[in-house]
Amino acid sequence: MRLAEKVAVVTGGASGMGLETVRKFAAEGAKVVIADFNEQTGAEAAADGTAKGFDVSFIKTDVAREHDIEAMCAHALSTYGRLDVLFNNAGVGGAIGPITETTVEDWDYTFDVLAKGVFLGIKHATKIMRRQGTGGSIINTASVAGLSGDAGPLVYSAAKAAVINLSKSAAVELALDRIRVNAICPGYIATPLTHTGDLEGIQRAFAKSQPWPDFGRGEHIAGVALFLASDDSQFVTGEAIVVDGGLTAEGPARSRRFPKNAPRNSRYSGVTKGSTGVTNDLRKLDATEPTSDAD
Ligand SMILES: NC(=O)c1ccc[n+]([C@@H]2O[C@H](COP(=O)([O-])OP(=O)(O)OC[C@H]3O[C@@H](n4cnc5c(N)ncnc54)[C@H](O)[C@@H]3O)[C@@H](O)[C@H]2O)c1
Repeated sequence: MRLAEKVAVVTGGASGMGLETVRKFAAEGAKVVIADFNEQTGAEAAADGTAKGFDVSFIKTDVAREHDIEAMCAHALSTYGRLDVLFNNAGVGGAIGPITETTVEDWDYTFDVLAKGVFLGIKHATKIMRRQGTGGSIINTASVAGLSGDAGPLVYSAAKAAVINLSKSAAVELALDRIRVNAICPGYIATPLTHTGDLEGIQRAFAKSQPWPDFGRGEHIAGVALFLASDDSQFVTGEAIVVDGGLTAEGPARSRRFPKNAPRNSRYSGVTKGSTGVTNDLRKLDATEPTSDAD
């Protein structure tokens, strides 16, 4: 049991790689708080964990709101008595479309969830971990999109780059507290965020999107999160670990493997809200009528 006696919080723990991490952490002996915007999937994930005999609970959380992050940390303390591991993983696709059509509101929504949410998580988990005096591990989900210019939408990529730097800067600041801070940079992972219905189709596409012949799964990210949460990685901090089946190792050829629409050719602008249960807010660029979703 690599996480026996540990208490972990996983944001975005109701779906995808967060949900797989909740299961892995719990199976390794951790008590786990699932913190997610989506109340339905969050409650289902907690019920599923409890039915399997795991010690898990759910709190509805919007990671973009400081009050919610404080309540999330307080929930871990009041339910399990401490906090050892925080996985800042919640995310959405956020703003899409050409830069000339991207509004300040689309930018703010994307940065609020992806970057400010991570900042708030680090800030409040640190206060508790410092008080406990036994260190801790904070893990942040970035993306290969934060490493270069062609792996994700523009605002999303900028926010993920911010997460990588935030992880390194916080790791330096918190080292004397023995609080480790690391980022994980997933490549293409088949989750509800990426498939919107056609799971098998996206699995086939993702299996061809990098040198490794199998598609990326949430479990692949959960395994690295477990390593970073456990004492096996006790001298690892300020690192951004790429988990992408060789995608970035391949370099410039990767765009040819998995061609996608260039943003400037996009017919839509607006924000996608992933698995939150909230409808996307997209505008069709060549039409005057707003549209609720991309086709
Ligand atoms: N799937 C990929 O290919 C991929 C690649 C690189 C990075 N990522 C990142 O991995 C993380 C997890 O993504 P996933 O693929 O498992 O997606 P997912 O949609 O399956 O899960 C994301 C979860 O985050 C929750 N969430 C969204 N906004 C929230 C908010 N404001 N507050 C709290 N919870 C919120 C959603 O409700 C959902 O349960 C995200 O940060 C994403 O950007 C994903």
